[in-house]
Amino acid sequence: MKRSTESIKILVTRVFPKAGMELLKAEGFSVTEWNKEQPMTYTEMLEAAKNHDALFCTLTDKIDSTFLRECNHLKIVSQFGVGYDNIDVKEATRLGIPVGNTPDVLTEATADIAFGLMVATSRKMFYMHKLIQNSEWKTFTPNAHLGIELRGKTLGIFGLGRIGFEMARLCKAAYNMKIIYHNRTRNMQAEAKLDAHFVSFNELLERSDVLSLHCALSEETNGVFNKEAFGKMKPTSIFINTSRGLVHNEIDLIEALRSGQIWGAGLDVTNPEPMHPDNPLLSMENVSVLPHIGSGTEETRGKMSVLAAENIIGIYKYGIIPHLVNPDVLKER
Ligand code: GLV
Repeated sequence: MKRSTESIKILVTRVFPKAGMELLKAEGFSVTEWNKEQPMTYTEMLEAAKNHDALFCTLTDKIDSTFLRECNHLKIVSQFGVGYDNIDVKEATRLGIPVGNTPDVLTEATADIAFGLMVATSRKMFYMHKLIQNSEWKTFTPNAHLGIELRGKTLGIFGLGRIGFEMARLCKAAYNMKIIYHNRTRNMQAEAKLDAHFVSFNELLERSDVLSLHCALSEETNGVFNKEAFGKMKPTSIFINTSRGLVHNEIDLIEALRSGQIWGAGLDVTNPEPMHPDNPLLSMENVSVLPHIGSGTEETRGKMSVLAAENIIGIYKYGIIPHLVNPDVLKER
């Protein structure tokens, strides 16, 4: 017999935009919402999840193999976010637990942040703002703190999926930048629409004036931007990361900036998050750092909340998850 939705308990691990919560409640689910701004601890989440049927979670929640084995009754792990490196998806698949995510709706907002960081870094905006704030800006200076221009430069994209495509589109439209990219597979749409050129990883490093990361964090991408990679980049280049902090090695990045191996960096993601306030990156003239706000607009976060709720509603009402990360799970069930 089909369970009534009131008897289905959803654990919501953070304070999320209301839209998704309202949707779940309107469908009659029993929703337990964590109401503090700080995330639940691992133990709190584990204990609570044992008494719930489904999880509505996000990238700050560590859903590892121990968690999944202890909560193998979960009908779905629904992630608020497109990335899901916080979840051991392999283990979830093995245990027959579907994992949902929220792609597409955050593409534009995230690309906006990559684009904004590129412009801000190229003109040292964050640093110059701080000079005013600290009463250190005394007068117009004709030959100090000069930025670099972006028009006609080469944009390199590492991981040309939806967000990378949108970043490339913005850069081409705004500055007629030439697009090169490195990816696991060729992106024919980007090649046709943006005249993007597929290049080797080394060529991407050597030719990019701006190198922007849009890959997922995985075993292959973890730490790929290290001393050796930065060493191959142009001394005039700008490094942008809006994907995951672990894709670059922060110590090597600091060294590359200090030694002038690269010119600047714009980061929306760091390792760890939050970045320590004493981190030297925060006082560098050519560096702009943001606290992981890629998808952070009213509109986008609202849509993500709805999508994560729809993944839960989908499995209970229709047996279908609109955005399923691990389709192989269906073979296991
Ligand atoms: C944010 O980083 C996301 O993965 O959605």
